[in-house]
Order: sequence, then structure tokens, then C-alpha cells
Amino acid sequence: MSKWVRIISLCAILTLILFAAGCGNSKEKTTGSSSGNKSGEKQTFKLAHITPTDHMWHKAAEKFGEELKSRSDGRLELEIYPASQLGTEADMVQQIESGSIDFGLITAAYLSARAPEFAAWFMPYGFTTLEEANEARKSDISKKILSSLEEQGLKGLDYLFAGQRVMIFKDKQVKTPADMNGLKLRVTPSPPMQDFYRSTGAAPEGLPLPEVYAAIQTGVIDGMDMDLDATITNKYYEVAKYGAVTNHMVWPSVVIANQSKFEGMPEEDRKIVTDSLEAAIEFAVTTRSAQEEEFKNELSENGMEIYEISPKEFKKQIDEFDQIYSEKSPLIKEFIKTYRK
Ligand code: BEZ
Repeated sequence: MSKWVRIISLCAILTLILFAAGCGNSKEKTTGSSSGNKSGEKQTFKLAHITPTDHMWHKAAEKFGEELKSRSDGRLELEIYPASQLGTEADMVQQIESGSIDFGLITAAYLSARAPEFAAWFMPYGFTTLEEANEARKSDISKKILSSLEEQGLKGLDYLFAGQRVMIFKDKQVKTPADMNGLKLRVTPSPPMQDFYRSTGAAPEGLPLPEVYAAIQTGVIDGMDMDLDATITNKYYEVAKYGAVTNHMVWPSVVIANQSKFEGMPEEDRKIVTDSLEAAIEFAVTTRSAQEEEFKNELSENGMEIYEISPKEFKKQIDEFDQIYSEKSPLIKEFIKTYRK
């Protein structure tokens, strides 16, 4: 073989090797939610939550997905499982622990039963507006509350708010806490929420959301603790006459992930996730705040009597809550001290 033939053959072989290596690098792998992703890999995350698709939390989840996709140039995507498709909140937390789903929007109310520091968020009348609560979410105290999940192997990434809590009554117009005495009211099975209602003399019933409509329709309960959003999406106006827009508690969900899985992700992807979440959370607060009057009007148009009760009526219950819950933990005490005006 001549010298030139050998040189040309060598060049051809080198070109082939370089071409093959290039192809290998450009071939992206898609990892499912049970495998940890490596830098630059494609990934489709799974997120589950309990609300219907017309609730703000679902819209925020969709926004999170859009942001993930655009901030990663299409590399990171999100599949959403709404409306308890993957089970109850307890089931979802278990699936996050096992790594079969990546993210859950889990109510702080549910978490307050397994991580007591979350009770801080349920101090009655702690925040007047959603924007105030959203500012509080960025504080060190709020982040410390999220960190309390780490002993369970969970990473609390952030808080996502829906509208504040209101009181819905089937056929009695409650104007003061005294009117609540003896009423059977559905209250999420969260210790601080139930304690607040017990302090009014009401009898809280810890029913899960899907059972509430039938319970009020059939008179098993006299009313419920709810938000305006879910009152509309679940059509409670069909079975309840009175809506007291008390806005007595905020209603955060907590975006949780499996701690070791999240911390094992490439730093670049963790940043894309947290930045995308931030954008989705801000979108939800801005959108939901602007809907308050529209939601009240929608309920009135559907036949509900919508009215307000002054927070002053609940002074005794507020003081009792602050005293009892400040003694439960230094973090809750600090939260109440910081945000109670
Ligand atoms: C509830 O259980 O009251 C609830 C849960 C999620 C969103 C709205 C309401």
C-alpha cells in the first residue's frame, strides 16, 4: 500500500470514529421518574395533586410544566396527574417516598398532621391578603418549616397558595361564633384547623374532599370550611345557602419531592425546577388575587347569600389559638409573633 493510500485510509477511519462518537453524544436518553437523571439528559417528571383541573393548583402545575420545558429547551417535561388520580394525599406521599412520582402538591393541612410545625400556617386571621402570605412564604421561618420534612426523607420545595378559607353553611346564616355552637362542620383533618373550629363550639368532622358534597346534601353535616375556588369547582352552591367570606386562614399546598432523589439531580436541573416553580407560584398568586370579586359574584349568581363576618368576632378564638400553639414549638411561636398584627 502506498504511503498516500495509508494516510487516506487512516483519515477515513478517524472521521468514522469521530462521527460515531458525535452521534453517541447527541442521542438523548429519556429517564423515567424512577431513575436519577444525569447532566443533560431528557427527563419527564411526574406530578400529582388532588384538585380538579379547573382549580388554581392545576393551572399552576401546568404553568410549572411550561416553564420547565422552556427553561430547559424542551429537555425537561412534566406529566400531571390531577384530581386524586393517584390516590389520597397519604398515597401520593408514599409514592414520592418510593420514587414512583417526582412531585406532589400536598396540602399543608394534611402535612400538619405528620409534621406539626406546619400548624403555624393555620393561625387564624394571620394574613389579610394572599400577597401578604406569599411574602411570608419567602421568609427564613417558612423555609425552616419546610425543612422539618427532611427527617421523613422529603424535600419541601416551596408553598403554592389557593384562595383563603371561608365558611359555607347549608341553611343557617351564621353571624358570630356563638351561632356555630353544636353545628357539624366539615373541617380537613388537620389538628390546628380542627382546634380552631372546636374553640367556637362547633363539632368538626374530618371528611375528605370527595365526600363533602353528598354529606352536606343529605344533612350529615351543617356546613364546611372551604375556599371559594373549591366551592365553585365542586358546585357546593347547589346544596348550601350561605357563604361567609371570612378569609380566616390561608391555604397553602407544599410542593414536595423525594429528598435524596431531588438532591441527586444535576445542579442545573435543580435550578431549573426551583426557578420554574417560583414562576408558577407567582402566576398563581397574581391570578387568584384578581379573581376574589369574580368568585363572590359567581356564587351570588348561583343563589348563595355571600356575606362577611368581622374578624373581631373571633378575638377569643384567635387568642386561644395563639396561646396554645405558641407553646407547641419555638418555630410556631416565632411565626405567630412575626406575622400577627
Ligand atoms: C379541601 O380539602 O378543603 C381542599 C383541598 C384542596 C383544595 C381545596 C380545598
